[in-house]
Amino acid sequence: MSGTLPPEQLRTLFLFESLSEEQLAWLAERGRVEEYPAGRTVFAEGDPADSFFILLSGTLALSRRVQADEVEVNRTDQRGVYMGATQAYLRDEPGVPREYAASMRAVSDCAFFVLSADDFATMTRKWFPMAIHLLEGLFFGMRNTQVLIGERQRLAALGSLTSGLMHELNNPAAAIVRATAALRERVAGMRHKLALLADGHIAPDRLRALTHIIEPIIERAAKAPELTPMQASDREDELGDWLDEHGVGAAWDLAPIFAAAGLDIECLSEVAEAVGSELLDQALRWLGYTLETEQLMTDIEDAGTRVSTLVGAAKQYSQLDRASHQWIDVHEGLKSTLVMLGHKIGTGIRVVKDLDRSLPRIPAHPAELNQVWTNLIDNAVAAMDGAGTLTVRTARDGDRVLVEIGDTGPGVPPELRQRIFEPFFTTKPVGEGTGLGLDISYRIVVNRHGGDIRLVSQPGDTRFQVRLPITEQPPT
Ligand SMILES: Nc1ncnc2c1ncn2[C@@H]1O[C@H](COP(=O)(O)OP(=O)(O)OP(=O)(O)O)[C@@H](O)[C@H]1O
Ligand SMILES: [Mg+2]
Repeated sequence: MSGTLPPEQLRTLFLFESLSEEQLAWLAERGRVEEYPAGRTVFAEGDPADSFFILLSGTLALSRRVQADEVEVNRTDQRGVYMGATQAYLRDEPGVPREYAASMRAVSDCAFFVLSADDFATMTRKWFPMAIHLLEGLFFGMRNTQVLIGERQRLAALGSLTSGLMHELNNPAAAIVRATAALRERVAGMRHKLALLADGHIAPDRLRALTHIIEPIIERAAKAPELTPMQASDREDELGDWLDEHGVGAAWDLAPIFAAAGLDIECLSEVAEAVGSELLDQALRWLGYTLETEQLMTDIEDAGTRVSTLVGAAKQYSQLDRASHQWIDVHEGLKSTLVMLGHKIGTGIRVVKDLDRSLPRIPAHPAELNQVWTNLIDNAVAAMDGAGTLTVRTARDGDRVLVEIGDTGPGVPPELRQRIFEPFFTTKPVGEGTGLGLDISYRIVVNRHGGDIRLVSQPGDTRFQVRLPITEQPPT
């Protein structure tokens, strides 16, 4: 076959059967015939799609890369089939594919009628304007739907996270309110005692001795080792007896406070010696108030710290103050996701972290990866139904970083394994799962990060393995 194709030949191709003489002449002038020997690759997936091909003779095979494998998706010898720059007529917009979506190989010797992508685009836009509008509507409509669904799912996930987070925040907040109320009472009590002291019944040197002895005792209390419940109750008995013997009222209210603060009889004797017996009762109550207020302030501080930790995790999780693409340590996102999901994970599930701290940073969109971890952990927790072990493992796997989320649930039955990554596939009751978790995770890992996500599952041991490249991938 020669380099061109006469118009009457072109009319025999089904794509062109209704074109006018004039149009066929235009095509005959612009197009060319190309021949490829058996085995030759005509174009490769991912190369700029600069030509539109129509098969004239021979057998061709189309294949696509699926992770590490090249999978044949089509093989045909039908005259007139077309491939290549088949979407060249779409208007230029970010996200419109301009690369070959598959690779094409000549299985036997092949001949094609070939148009440049530009000619093909001009011709279709000019000759079939209405069809192009409809096709564009279809393409952009589908793309928008996908974006919306993705956002919707993100919102739903965020909603459930927010309610979990609110629950978590509520505990320390309530603790702060409680402690503050108790503190107010104690401080009022101390003011009352202060008034009594100031009435002047007490010799100034005794008062001075009291203030001097209290400071070291408070310091000691801060460092007191935690007593076991047995030790604590023994200590309380000892202290209570001593207080009783020395005529201190409220002995059995004070004993537990002193015991918790790590005081012993020796300590109390020191106080007795310093302030004298007539003031002992007042002095010890004063000490009790002081120790209690210290404890309450520590409680408030702890609760406050817990609130900041949670807010910090939420911020890290949502990556509110960070750029979208950066070099990240996967552990940070995993940790904040675990904190965020703490409420959902509950107490019946043991969390095991098997982390390789020496992993290098990887180029990634951290907020998106957090969404992946959230979906996988959410699924694992749901599969275990309240009891089991959740394992988060990281490791290096050649030139990739492996993140594995494992659970001890019933696993995914073999007949479902093909389907779980499909959008809207769910085995959860209506209203509970959207079936988008794994679809979105797949797209984030594979399309956005050039990684892969795999399932290894048997009853009692299910692992979702995410592998992410350590080096920068060409943008997709
Ligand atoms: N760890 C797992 N163990 C057992 N089955 C799983 C596990 N993870 C996923 N699956 C199965 O895969 C299905 C799809 O998961 P996917 O996350 O896509 O949707 P979903 O969890 O059902 O809903 P959504 O994530 O939107 O709430 C689940 O319904 C479940 O049957
Ligand atoms: Mg899910």
